Amino acid sequence: MNDKPVGIFDSGIGGLSVVRQVSKLLPNEKLIYFGDTARVPYGSKSPRVVREFARQDAYFLSDKNVKAMIIACNTASAEALDLLQKEFDIPIIGVINPGAGFAANITKNGKIGVIGTHGTIASGAYETELLSINSSLEVESAACPLLVPLVEEGWESKEVTKEIIGEYLSPLLDKNIDTLILGCTHYPILKPLIQEVVGDDVVLVDSAEAAAAELERILSDKNLSASNKESSSEHEYYVSDFPFKFKETAERFLGKRLPEVELIPLDKLESRLKAIT
Ligand code: DGL
Repeated sequence: MNDKPVGIFDSGIGGLSVVRQVSKLLPNEKLIYFGDTARVPYGSKSPRVVREFARQDAYFLSDKNVKAMIIACNTASAEALDLLQKEFDIPIIGVINPGAGFAANITKNGKIGVIGTHGTIASGAYETELLSINSSLEVESAACPLLVPLVEEGWESKEVTKEIIGEYLSPLLDKNIDTLILGCTHYPILKPLIQEVVGDDVVLVDSAEAAAAELERILSDKNLSASNKESSSEHEYYVSDFPFKFKETAERFLGKRLPEVELIPLDKLESRLKAIT
Protein backbone atom coordinates (compact mmCIF):
# COMPACT_ATOMS: atom_id res chain seq x y z
CA MET A 1 0.00 0.00 0.00
CA ASN A 2 2.80 2.43 0.95
CA ASP A 3 4.39 2.25 -2.46
CA LYS A 4 1.20 3.15 -4.28
CA PRO A 5 1.16 6.63 -5.85
CA VAL A 6 -0.58 9.78 -4.65
CA GLY A 7 -3.09 11.30 -7.10
CA ILE A 8 -3.35 15.05 -7.70
CA PHE A 9 -5.90 16.70 -9.96
CA ASP A 10 -6.63 20.21 -11.11
CA SER A 11 -8.65 22.00 -13.75
CA GLY A 12 -5.45 22.41 -15.77
CA ILE A 13 -1.85 23.34 -15.29
CA GLY A 14 -2.13 25.39 -12.08
CA GLY A 15 -2.10 22.32 -9.83
CA LEU A 16 1.56 21.88 -10.66
CA SER A 17 2.13 24.34 -7.79
CA VAL A 18 0.94 21.46 -5.55
CA VAL A 19 3.12 18.92 -7.42
CA ARG A 20 6.11 21.20 -6.80
CA GLN A 21 5.42 21.51 -3.06
CA VAL A 22 4.68 17.80 -2.57
CA SER A 23 7.81 16.77 -4.50
CA LYS A 24 9.86 19.12 -2.32
CA LEU A 25 8.42 17.89 0.98
CA LEU A 26 7.89 14.21 0.13
CA PRO A 27 10.49 13.26 -2.49
CA ASN A 28 9.84 9.54 -1.98
CA GLU A 29 6.24 9.72 -3.12
CA LYS A 30 5.32 8.87 -6.69
CA LEU A 31 2.67 11.26 -8.05
CA ILE A 32 0.03 10.83 -10.72
CA TYR A 33 -1.28 14.15 -12.01
CA PHE A 34 -4.43 14.79 -13.99
CA GLY A 35 -5.07 18.24 -15.49
CA ASP A 36 -8.47 18.81 -17.06
CA THR A 37 -7.06 21.09 -19.75
CA ALA A 38 -10.07 20.53 -22.04
CA ARG A 39 -12.50 22.08 -19.55
CA VAL A 40 -10.39 24.70 -17.73
CA PRO A 41 -11.39 27.12 -16.17
CA TYR A 42 -13.50 25.66 -13.36
CA GLY A 43 -13.55 29.02 -11.54
CA SER A 44 -16.33 30.51 -13.65
CA LYS A 45 -18.54 27.38 -13.78
CA SER A 46 -21.52 26.48 -11.62
CA PRO A 47 -21.09 24.29 -8.52
CA ARG A 48 -23.08 21.48 -10.19
CA VAL A 49 -20.77 21.37 -13.21
CA VAL A 50 -17.59 21.62 -11.10
CA ARG A 51 -18.78 18.73 -8.91
CA GLU A 52 -19.47 16.58 -11.96
CA PHE A 53 -16.02 17.29 -13.45
CA ALA A 54 -14.31 16.71 -10.09
CA ARG A 55 -15.98 13.30 -9.76
CA GLN A 56 -14.80 12.30 -13.22
CA ASP A 57 -11.24 13.46 -12.43
CA ALA A 58 -11.26 11.56 -9.13
CA TYR A 59 -12.52 8.31 -10.69
CA PHE A 60 -9.75 8.54 -13.28
CA LEU A 61 -7.12 8.76 -10.51
CA SER A 62 -8.79 6.16 -8.34
CA ASP A 63 -8.57 3.72 -11.28
CA LYS A 64 -4.80 4.32 -11.16
CA ASN A 65 -4.90 2.77 -7.71
CA VAL A 66 -3.75 5.82 -5.74
CA LYS A 67 -3.43 5.59 -1.93
CA ALA A 68 -4.47 9.24 -1.36
CA MET A 69 -5.63 12.18 -3.43
CA ILE A 70 -5.15 15.95 -3.36
CA ILE A 71 -7.69 18.21 -5.04
CA ALA A 72 -5.18 20.88 -6.10
CA CYS A 73 -7.86 23.15 -7.56
CA ASN A 74 -9.32 25.57 -5.02
CA THR A 75 -12.62 25.80 -6.88
CA ALA A 76 -13.03 22.01 -6.98
CA SER A 77 -11.93 21.78 -3.32
CA ALA A 78 -14.61 24.31 -2.41
CA GLU A 79 -17.38 22.54 -4.30
CA ALA A 80 -16.53 18.84 -4.23
CA LEU A 81 -14.34 17.89 -1.26
CA ASP A 82 -17.20 16.57 0.92
CA LEU A 83 -18.72 14.69 -1.97
CA LEU A 84 -15.46 12.96 -2.93
CA GLN A 85 -14.60 12.15 0.68
CA LYS A 86 -17.94 10.32 0.92
CA GLU A 87 -17.49 8.55 -2.39
CA PHE A 88 -13.95 7.18 -1.97
CA ASP A 89 -12.40 5.30 0.90
CA ILE A 90 -8.89 6.75 0.60
CA PRO A 91 -7.76 10.03 2.23
CA ILE A 92 -8.79 12.99 0.08
CA ILE A 93 -7.28 16.38 0.84
CA GLY A 94 -8.49 19.70 -0.51
CA VAL A 95 -6.39 22.86 -0.48
CA ILE A 96 -8.87 24.98 1.47
CA ASN A 97 -8.77 23.47 4.96
CA PRO A 98 -4.95 23.36 5.14
CA GLY A 99 -4.61 26.93 3.82
CA ALA A 100 -7.26 28.24 6.23
CA GLY A 101 -5.70 26.39 9.17
CA PHE A 102 -2.29 27.85 8.42
CA ALA A 103 -3.66 31.40 8.09
CA ALA A 104 -5.71 31.15 11.31
CA ASN A 105 -2.55 30.09 13.09
CA ILE A 106 -0.30 32.90 11.98
CA THR A 107 -2.59 35.95 11.95
CA LYS A 108 -1.77 38.38 14.77
CA ASN A 109 -4.63 40.86 14.44
CA GLY A 110 -7.28 38.27 13.42
CA LYS A 111 -7.98 39.98 10.08
CA ILE A 112 -7.54 37.64 7.13
CA GLY A 113 -8.00 38.33 3.42
CA VAL A 114 -8.90 35.63 0.90
CA ILE A 115 -8.59 35.88 -2.88
CA GLY A 116 -9.71 33.28 -5.41
CA THR A 117 -11.87 32.58 -8.46
CA HIS A 118 -15.56 33.57 -8.62
CA GLY A 119 -16.50 29.98 -7.74
CA THR A 120 -14.24 29.72 -4.70
CA ILE A 121 -15.23 33.10 -3.26
CA ALA A 122 -18.97 32.60 -3.96
CA SER A 123 -18.84 29.24 -2.14
CA GLY A 124 -17.63 30.97 1.05
CA ALA A 125 -15.56 27.84 1.75
CA TYR A 126 -12.47 29.62 3.11
CA GLU A 127 -14.60 31.90 5.27
CA THR A 128 -16.62 28.97 6.68
CA GLU A 129 -13.45 27.03 7.47
CA LEU A 130 -11.71 30.04 9.06
CA LEU A 131 -14.71 30.87 11.25
CA SER A 132 -15.10 27.25 12.30
CA ILE A 133 -11.50 27.37 13.55
CA ASN A 134 -11.96 30.70 15.33
CA SER A 135 -15.29 32.52 15.22
CA SER A 136 -13.73 35.84 16.20
CA LEU A 137 -11.66 36.08 13.01
CA GLU A 138 -12.60 38.79 10.53
CA VAL A 139 -12.52 37.56 6.94
CA GLU A 140 -12.54 39.80 3.87
CA SER A 141 -12.77 38.06 0.49
CA ALA A 142 -12.38 39.14 -3.13
CA ALA A 143 -12.82 37.28 -6.41
CA CYS A 144 -9.98 38.14 -8.80
CA PRO A 145 -11.08 36.54 -12.11
CA LEU A 146 -8.57 38.42 -14.28
CA LEU A 147 -5.53 36.96 -12.53
CA VAL A 148 -5.73 33.40 -13.96
CA PRO A 149 -5.65 34.55 -17.61
CA LEU A 150 -2.84 37.02 -16.82
CA VAL A 151 -0.72 34.20 -15.36
CA GLU A 152 -1.55 31.89 -18.27
CA GLU A 153 -0.45 34.68 -20.61
CA GLY A 154 2.91 34.86 -18.77
CA TRP A 155 2.24 38.42 -17.58
CA GLU A 156 3.34 37.80 -13.99
CA SER A 157 5.75 40.73 -13.85
CA LYS A 158 3.91 43.32 -15.95
CA GLU A 159 2.97 46.71 -14.56
CA VAL A 160 -0.63 46.28 -15.74
CA THR A 161 -0.93 43.07 -13.69
CA LYS A 162 0.33 44.94 -10.62
CA GLU A 163 -2.29 47.65 -11.21
CA ILE A 164 -5.07 45.07 -11.46
CA ILE A 165 -3.88 43.35 -8.26
CA GLY A 166 -3.91 46.79 -6.59
CA GLU A 167 -7.56 47.33 -7.64
CA TYR A 168 -8.64 43.92 -6.36
CA LEU A 169 -6.78 44.16 -3.07
CA SER A 170 -7.52 47.74 -2.11
CA PRO A 171 -10.79 46.91 -0.21
CA LEU A 172 -8.96 44.15 1.70
CA LEU A 173 -6.08 46.44 2.63
CA ASP A 174 -8.60 49.05 3.82
CA LYS A 175 -9.73 46.44 6.37
CA ASN A 176 -6.19 46.22 7.71
CA ILE A 177 -5.63 42.51 7.01
CA ASP A 178 -2.29 41.10 8.20
CA THR A 179 -2.62 37.74 6.38
CA LEU A 180 -3.71 37.03 2.79
CA ILE A 181 -4.66 33.56 1.54
CA LEU A 182 -3.74 32.96 -2.11
CA GLY A 183 -6.82 30.80 -2.73
CA CYS A 184 -6.15 29.80 -6.33
CA THR A 185 -3.58 27.53 -7.95
CA HIS A 186 -2.21 30.32 -10.12
CA TYR A 187 -1.65 33.02 -7.52
CA PRO A 188 1.61 31.71 -6.00
CA ILE A 189 3.20 32.64 -9.35
CA LEU A 190 2.16 36.24 -8.67
CA LYS A 191 3.61 36.19 -5.14
CA PRO A 192 6.38 38.78 -5.75
CA LEU A 193 3.93 41.24 -7.32
CA ILE A 194 1.24 40.66 -4.69
CA GLN A 195 3.81 41.13 -1.91
CA GLU A 196 4.87 44.45 -3.47
CA VAL A 197 1.23 45.59 -3.50
CA VAL A 198 0.37 44.52 0.07
CA GLY A 199 3.71 45.45 1.63
CA ASP A 200 5.93 43.45 3.97
CA ASP A 201 3.54 43.57 6.92
CA VAL A 202 1.03 41.23 5.25
CA VAL A 203 1.92 37.52 5.25
CA LEU A 204 0.96 35.58 2.10
CA VAL A 205 -0.36 32.05 2.61
CA ASP A 206 0.21 29.57 -0.20
CA SER A 207 -2.49 26.88 0.03
CA ALA A 208 -0.38 24.49 -2.08
CA GLU A 209 2.35 24.50 0.55
CA ALA A 210 -0.17 23.95 3.35
CA ALA A 211 -1.78 21.04 1.43
CA ALA A 212 1.59 19.33 0.99
CA ALA A 213 2.18 19.57 4.75
CA GLU A 214 -1.29 18.12 5.36
CA LEU A 215 -0.54 15.20 3.02
CA GLU A 216 2.68 14.51 4.92
CA ARG A 217 0.77 14.47 8.22
CA ILE A 218 -2.00 12.18 6.95
CA LEU A 219 0.32 9.68 5.26
CA SER A 220 2.44 9.46 8.37
CA ASP A 221 -0.61 9.13 10.72
CA LYS A 222 -2.03 6.35 8.59
CA ASN A 223 1.32 4.68 8.13
CA LEU A 224 1.10 5.17 4.39
CA SER A 225 4.34 7.06 3.67
CA ALA A 226 6.45 5.64 0.84
CA SER A 227 9.28 3.60 2.23
CA ASN A 228 12.08 4.59 -0.12
CA LYS A 229 13.09 6.64 -3.10
CA GLU A 230 12.46 3.75 -5.55
CA SER A 231 8.73 4.26 -5.33
CA SER A 232 8.90 7.84 -6.58
CA SER A 233 10.43 6.53 -9.87
CA GLU A 234 8.73 8.77 -12.42
CA HIS A 235 5.67 10.87 -11.80
CA GLU A 236 2.94 10.37 -14.42
CA TYR A 237 1.04 13.19 -16.10
CA TYR A 238 -2.32 13.01 -17.88
CA VAL A 239 -4.42 15.78 -19.43
CA SER A 240 -7.73 15.99 -21.29
CA ASP A 241 -6.36 18.25 -24.08
CA PHE A 242 -3.11 19.74 -25.46
CA PRO A 243 -0.59 17.28 -23.95
CA PHE A 244 2.36 18.86 -25.81
CA LYS A 245 1.56 22.36 -24.65
CA PHE A 246 1.10 21.05 -21.09
CA LYS A 247 4.46 19.25 -21.21
CA GLU A 248 6.27 22.36 -22.44
CA THR A 249 4.76 24.66 -19.81
CA ALA A 250 5.14 22.10 -17.03
CA GLU A 251 8.82 21.55 -17.84
CA ARG A 252 9.39 25.30 -17.62
CA PHE A 253 7.44 25.55 -14.37
CA LEU A 254 8.98 22.51 -12.65
CA GLY A 255 12.45 23.15 -14.10
CA LYS A 256 13.00 19.60 -15.32
CA ARG A 257 12.28 17.25 -18.22
CA LEU A 258 9.01 15.30 -17.95
CA PRO A 259 8.04 11.91 -19.36
CA GLU A 260 5.40 11.82 -22.12
CA VAL A 261 2.12 13.42 -21.07
CA GLU A 262 -0.81 11.19 -22.01
CA LEU A 263 -4.06 12.45 -23.50
CA ILE A 264 -7.26 11.18 -21.85
CA PRO A 265 -10.24 12.05 -24.07
CA LEU A 266 -13.26 13.53 -22.34
CA ASP A 267 -15.58 10.75 -23.45
CA LYS A 268 -13.43 8.30 -21.53
CA LEU A 269 -13.84 10.36 -18.33
CA GLU A 270 -17.57 10.75 -18.92
CA SER A 271 -18.28 7.11 -19.72
CA ARG A 272 -16.36 5.91 -16.64
CA LEU A 273 -18.73 7.90 -14.45
CA LYS A 274 -21.82 6.81 -16.38
CA ALA A 275 -20.81 3.20 -15.79
CA ILE A 276 -21.24 3.59 -12.04
CA THR A 277 -24.37 5.79 -11.96
N1 DGL B 1 -7.47 25.80 -10.51
C1 DGL B 1 -8.40 26.90 -10.30
C2 DGL B 1 -8.45 27.22 -8.81
O1 DGL B 1 -7.52 27.01 -8.05
C3 DGL B 1 -7.99 28.12 -11.11
C4 DGL B 1 -8.20 27.94 -12.59
C5 DGL B 1 -9.65 27.64 -12.93
O2 DGL B 1 -10.52 28.53 -12.81
O3 DGL B 1 -9.92 26.51 -13.29
O4 DGL B 1 -9.46 27.70 -8.35
